[in-house]
Amino acid sequence: MISENLEKALNAQIRIEAESSQVYLSMACWAESKGLEGVAGFMYDHSDEERVHMLKLVKYVNERGGTVKISDLKAPDTDFGSLQKMLQQLYEHELFVSKSINDLVRITLEENDYATHNFLQWYVAEQLEEEALARSVLDKINMIGDDKGGLYLFDRDIQQLTGESIASNTGA
Ligand code: FEO
Repeated sequence: MISENLEKALNAQIRIEAESSQVYLSMACWAESKGLEGVAGFMYDHSDEERVHMLKLVKYVNERGGTVKISDLKAPDTDFGSLQKMLQQLYEHELFVSKSINDLVRITLEENDYATHNFLQWYVAEQLEEEALARSVLDKINMIGDDKGGLYLFDRDIQQLTGESIASNTGA
């Protein structure tokens, strides 16, 4: 069994992953409305990944005999201003998720719950990849600035990016 405290913290993370999926879905819609098909595809995929992150946690809590609480979600923004601002927000959001995962890991150590500690290592590794990916696309768009040709190529190429390819590019 997991402790009440840890169950609460895992449920909070389930909500964060679900909200991340909604934020990225909203970013995908915004990008699509601006004609940025590649960016939209990238964000739709990212939204799906966050749902997978959420489901993994749901199944783990159930497996450990805990109670999952599926809660209401905060509505995401619908206007992201510019592609630069949106990708900055994506990067900052991933930093926030990483901090939340680190807090969870700390609780497992405080409670000597090594099974959950072990389970969470997948998230620790995933966050490293996601941070590297978000930082990489942000660096690229900052380099491109207002250059229309650069933006066209960025939109064409971004959908091919995966965590693996970025990790190998950055050595992460
Ligand atoms: Fe599930 Fe991108 O954090």
